[in-house]
Amino acid sequence: MQLHMDNFASAKYDVFSMFNDRWALCTAGTPGEFNTMTIGWGTMGTIWGAPRRGKQVITVFLRESRRTSDILLQSDHFTVCFFPEEYRKDLGILGSKSGRDVPDKISLTKLTPKPLGDAVGFEEADLTFVCKKIYTHKMLLEELPEFVRDTLYKDGDLHYIFMGEIEDVSGSIG
Ligand SMILES: Cc1cc2nc3c(=O)[nH]c(=O)nc-3n(C[C@H](O)[C@H](O)[C@H](O)COP(=O)(O)O)c2cc1C
Repeated sequence: MQLHMDNFASAKYDVFSMFNDRWALCTAGTPGEFNTMTIGWGTMGTIWGAPRRGKQVITVFLRESRRTSDILLQSDHFTVCFFPEEYRKDLGILGSKSGRDVPDKISLTKLTPKPLGDAVGFEEADLTFVCKKIYTHKMLLEELPEFVRDTLYKDGDLHYIFMGEIEDVSGSIG
C-alpha cells in the first residue's frame, strides 16, 4: 500500500518489529549539514491532544555521544527511514562508524541522501517519516531502573529522548 498523509494513520505498522528487527536510519539536520545513524529503538503513538486528536509521533533514543544527537539538538526536523533487506549491511556500517570520526561515512554505503524540504532522507528507503521535533529530554541517571543503570549506562552515556510529530510519510508497507 502506497502511503500518503491521509492514509498513513490507518496503516498497520508492525511497531514491535519495525525498529527492533528491521532497524532504521535516524537522520538529523538540513541538506546543508546533516548526520545519520542506525537505530534499533523507537516508538510510535499519540500524545498531547483531545481523544482522537492526539499528535502522531515517533520517539527515538540517541545517546549523547552520537554525532546525530549533537545535530538533532540544534535541528527542527529529523527523518526515520526504513530500508529493504538488501541494505542491512549499510545500516550496519552507519551503526558502527561515527560521523565524528568518519564525516563522509555515507560514502562507505550504497545509500543516496536526498533533501526532503529542510530535512534529509534516502533514495533507497521504502518507508520514510519526516518528523518535527516537539520534545527533547535527557534521561536522568538517578531515575533509571537499576538493571539498566548498572549495565547499559555504566559509562554514563545517557540517551536523549527526541519526540517528533510526523509531518510527512512516503513509501509503502507490506
Ligand atoms: C542495529 C543497531 C541499532 C542501534 N540503535 C541505536 C539506538 O537506538 N540509539 C543509539 O543511540 N545508538 C544506536 N546504535 C548505535 C549507533 O548507530 C552508532 O553508535 C553510530 O555509529 C552513531 O553514529 P553518529 O556518531 O555518526 O551519530 C545502533 C547500532 C546498530 C548497529
